[in-house]
Amino acid sequence: MSAQPSGQTWNTEAYAANGRFVATLASDVVALLAPQSGEHILDLGCGDGALTEQLAATGAILTGVDASPTMLAAARQRNLHSAVKFNVEHHDATALPYHNQFDAVFSNAALHWITGISGHQAALAGVHRALRITNPQARFVVEMGGHGNVAAIRTALQATLAPFHIDAEATAASFFPSPVLYRRLLESAGFTVQSIALIPRPTPLPNGMESWLNTFRNGVLDRLNPHDRAAAITSIIALLKPILRDADGNWVADYVRLRFHATLR
Ligand code: BEZ
Repeated sequence: MSAQPSGQTWNTEAYAANGRFVATLASDVVALLAPQSGEHILDLGCGDGALTEQLAATGAILTGVDASPTMLAAARQRNLHSAVKFNVEHHDATALPYHNQFDAVFSNAALHWITGISGHQAALAGVHRALRITNPQARFVVEMGGHGNVAAIRTALQATLAPFHIDAEATAASFFPSPVLYRRLLESAGFTVQSIALIPRPTPLPNGMESWLNTFRNGVLDRLNPHDRAAAITSIIALLKPILRDADGNWVADYVRLRFHATLR
């Protein structure tokens, strides 16, 4: 959840209410990580620490890093009240300071906030440096938005904001790569890719589309004055209703994940 090139800011209360699925739907990538008691694990883009705490409960020794001060404050609060303890540190994913000290680097729903190829190259170099070269099990396990992620929502945003001279895609600057592209980046950074795949994951939005837009696309919508913003949200919802709302009135977002497991070469 790091990096804010889109002007995306995090309201931790809205995130807790509308984005809890980000942690609760992570069981497959956590299973792929297979954390072991006593392992040192870096949670890259830890957000409010919900998953960091869950991973720490396995007996692994967790360090969560994030670039968002508000998310880090929420993670520190969580740590304060949690039975299991973890470290929380403020770093940008593109400038990690670690050397040869983690058995695993884990990341869920965070790397897509890093803009551009050069940002990803810097992040991957930092992850490679952070992993323990002497551990044959050292691994980098990730789930992030992949090619085609929330395509209908992005198209509706793009179409609705064009008359306001806002390029929603360029403004949001999300990075949703294909497996081919990300494999190339991983291999260039010195990793061997054990697995990498796109996984469609239709995602129920219990609080509906408006809450999702206000939580995950506020960096784009904040470019509008309050009147235009309200009109734009109404229009986006009207466009998406026939596509993403089912007959019972439930909203399901068209998430596509990129999940991979890479090791040191
Ligand atoms: C995602 O986790 O895939 C995502 C997050 C924010 C905006 C769009 C997609």
